[in-house]
Amino acid sequence: MQLFFSLPASPPQTFLATFTTFRHCPVRFLSTLILLFSLFLLLLVVVLLLLSIHQWRHSKDRRLPPGSMGWPYIGETLKIYTENPNSFFANRQKRYGDIFKTHILGCPCVMISSPEAARIVLVTQAHLFKPTYPPSKEKMIGPEALFFHQGAYHSRLKKLVQSSFLPSAIRGSVSEIEQIVLKFLPTWENTTINTLQEMKRYAFDVAMISALGHKQDSEIKGIKHLYQCLEKGYNSMPLDLPGTPFRKAMKARKLLNETLTRLIQGRRKNEQQGGGLLGVLLGSKNQKVDQLSDSQIADNVIGVIFAAHDTTASVLTWVLKYLHDNRDLLEAVTREQEGIQQEVIEANRRLTWDDTRHMPLTTRVIQETLRTASILSFTFREAVQDVEFEGYYIPKGWKVLPLFRSIHHCADFFPHPEKFDPSRFEVPPRPNTFMPFGNGVHSCPGSELAKLEMLVLLHHLTIGYRWQVMGDKDGIQYGPFPVPIRGLPVKVTPRKIKAA
Ligand code: HEM
Ligand SMILES: *[C@@H]1O[C@H](CO)[C@@H](O)[C@H](O)[C@H]1NC(C)=O
Ligand SMILES: *[C@@H]1O[C@H](CO)[C@@H](O)[C@H](O)[C@H]1NC(C)=O
Repeated sequence: MQLFFSLPASPPQTFLATFTTFRHCPVRFLSTLILLFSLFLLLLVVVLLLLSIHQWRHSKDRRLPPGSMGWPYIGETLKIYTENPNSFFANRQKRYGDIFKTHILGCPCVMISSPEAARIVLVTQAHLFKPTYPPSKEKMIGPEALFFHQGAYHSRLKKLVQSSFLPSAIRGSVSEIEQIVLKFLPTWENTTINTLQEMKRYAFDVAMISALGHKQDSEIKGIKHLYQCLEKGYNSMPLDLPGTPFRKAMKARKLLNETLTRLIQGRRKNEQQGGGLLGVLLGSKNQKVDQLSDSQIADNVIGVIFAAHDTTASVLTWVLKYLHDNRDLLEAVTREQEGIQQEVIEANRRLTWDDTRHMPLTTRVIQETLRTASILSFTFREAVQDVEFEGYYIPKGWKVLPLFRSIHHCADFFPHPEKFDPSRFEVPPRPNTFMPFGNGVHSCPGSELAKLEMLVLLHHLTIGYRWQVMGDKDGIQYGPFPVPIRGLPVKVTPRKIKAA
């Protein structure tokens, strides 16, 4: 089709000019020429007509979104992952508007950066746009994990996963999360830590108790180790050759599957479901529907732990960076947390879920971090059929990417978008403009847990410690989420409490 349009349409005048040079030739030759010429003209008209009909059909009925498809070259694809995603999208949005087409990873894509259009893709017409991931990632997480599915299987699993991360289900785990925080904090004192690495360890431990319950089976340690191998390969090139991180990760995945299957069968036999997501998935046979198979349960447990820890750790790393760079804000957050601490001490009790509901400033700091950092810059969907969309035509199989980051950084919804300003959340954002946890059927079931574990950590960290960023301050790295450069190395020291 591209070839069709790019044929150079030779202007007829050129041919006319050539033929007029024959005017001294005999009449018969001339009339043959005129006949040939008329035939040629007729053909030209027909071709032009066909071409314009073709074009008209595409420009009127089936108008593709504007934008340049180019030839997918590696540089462009790498750019989207390795360079500042703000400018990649902003440049194109400025040129083409809120809906434009492009090419990444060899796939034609439509980028969406208006809240209304994103809502259509994720919520109102979600059935027309299925989630899509590279096959290597699907293999690594497990093909039966809910991320990859649509329809009945997805909604059945989603209900189960959601039910185990509802506020009512996690409010009892505040003390356990606090125990994990209190285990980590002293190990940071007077040392320089890689914030991202430490936050990953913290978020991983929280994810493990939420997914597998509090029962400390002998398998837990092994699972942790295998997970680390899996993660190393997850973001590497999917090269299945001896010695590659990918091959090692796939091996770890197989062992993880076996370990988890043993754990599942053990808990089935002992009728001890042990709480957590695993307990809910094992217990799902109590409903009318069939029991989930071992590998369905394993894939989903592995998938949830995956979705839970990298994301939360990246956001926490940004929170520490922003609080470090905004001293007044850090002091204000600390005062809020000291107020809570006072109540906890006076009542001689532990930190509770209700305490975490009374941390408005800290909560706004987390919201503003989710907006500013937008660690999930966008998500991938794929059109399951030809779709009419906002006056455009999106062909079946094209990728559709709602750009959360562009929406979060649009000055119409968030004035001075580059400024870190938690007070903007004193009024709720306009509907569908703030989607750090996505929207619609595939939105994040772990949002409350993520916020809870951030609040509990910030409670103890701001009261007891201060941190100084080491080295050059302001770079960003992508691995794959955007995080402060080198994972934000900080020196942690006990907080000196000023005498009143
Ligand atoms: C601050 C941390 C987190 C962020 C920013 C985040 C963000 C997101 C987003 C944007 C989506 C939607 C993806 C899409 O529509 O394609 C998502 C899905 C998901 N998240 Fe999170 N998430 C976080 C933490 C967690 C936690 C703690 C859990 C653990 C329970 C979790 C589990 C999931 C699952 C299972 C899905 C897939 C849901 C589905 O496909 O139906 N996430 N997350
Ligand atoms: C996990 O093991 C089961 C058999 O126990 C198998 O059916 C399933 O395909 C395995 N899953 C993965 C992702 O390897
Ligand atoms: C850390 O340093 C401070 C001040 O130098 C000191 O009071 C504290 O005991 C040290 N903590 C540890 C765990 O070494």
